[in-house]
Amino acid sequence: MTKTIALLPGDGIGPEITAPTVELLNKLGDFTFEEHLFGGISIDAHGTALTDEVTAACQRADAVLLAAVGGPKWDTTDPTKPRPEQGLLGLRKALGLYANLRPVRPVPALYDASPLKREIIDGTNLLVVRELTGGLYFGDRGRRGDTAWDTMIYSVAEIERIVRTAFEAARSRVTSVDKANVLESSRLWREVVKRVHAEEFPNIELEHVLVDNAAMQLVSNPRHFEIIVTENMFGDILSDEAAMLTGSIGLLPSASLGGDGPGLFEPVHGSAPDIAGKGIANPLAMFLSAALLLRHGFAMETEAAAVESAVDRALADGLRTADLGGAATTAEASQAVLNYL
Ligand code: NAI
Ligand code: MG
Repeated sequence: MTKTIALLPGDGIGPEITAPTVELLNKLGDFTFEEHLFGGISIDAHGTALTDEVTAACQRADAVLLAAVGGPKWDTTDPTKPRPEQGLLGLRKALGLYANLRPVRPVPALYDASPLKREIIDGTNLLVVRELTGGLYFGDRGRRGDTAWDTMIYSVAEIERIVRTAFEAARSRVTSVDKANVLESSRLWREVVKRVHAEEFPNIELEHVLVDNAAMQLVSNPRHFEIIVTENMFGDILSDEAAMLTGSIGLLPSASLGGDGPGLFEPVHGSAPDIAGKGIANPLAMFLSAALLLRHGFAMETEAAAVESAVDRALADGLRTADLGGAATTAEASQAVLNYL
């Protein structure tokens, strides 16, 4: 049966990298694409970055594929004016996306782009599963006199669902990162992880690592990790640290998953207004986001792996877009990957 993908090309290079991604997905399955205005382009048409119609269409879809939003045209510090990023936050909220997945899979052909030594990153293939809607960023906060506070607060239910996402994505090992030697919320986190593991995933190996130690091991022995699951702020910091293993923002995909609705899949990079319309944007992060859509949205692991392998081969073959120091156009880069697929 055909699956519906809500397509949000957005702004800047968005449409340029979305078109070849549709072509790529059409080679791998029977999908119906429903394209919608989102971000700045939606502000121009409707005065808001995310209309109720688009929200409803995304909720009905089987998956949402988003390129990027924003640009100088809509930059404003006037709080009464709509901003493209409001669409992102609104959509994440409407879809209940509490799990942010960022795979870190350095490509051998680009090892030299990483600030780390080749022998350290070689063979790294890890996934950071970050809790996205709880913890310090959403807890009680305030100011009194010359003091200010934020609180890291988690419920059992919030921990259970993110930890299940991590175990479900694991083949053999999950590393739960916390600060249980100091923080009470981390002690609850650890208790819940242990219980979910024992009751539901006893065949997956589980280890607990303190966040400071995890930060160290990410750059000294990244191969050790398969899945890292952690709370919101630790995940924010560790996922950016881990991204540096690859050395290039033009190649990083992400997935945001929720309870019962569709997942949202998007590259980590923005709308690159400086190169928009020139036909030179790197489509690979968008292709790899499509691979995550196939894997986590539709359980199409074979097809997901095929996309990743085609990207690896094209890069090994010398494919380099401008952001990677080369001269390949979006069309050439797309064709190179499609050929291997
Ligand atoms: P950016 O990621 O758009 O661009 C940073 C630099 O990387 C630029 O030089 C750009 O040309 C290059 N770049 C990014 N993606 C590329 C690609 N696929 N191929 C080739 N080069 C690429 O970040 P920046 O400049 O900070 O933000 C630009 C706009 O994008 C802003 O309006 C920002 O708010 C928005 N943005 C949107 C995001 C989203 O939709 N999730 C995320 C980050 C930024
Ligand atoms: Mg960050």
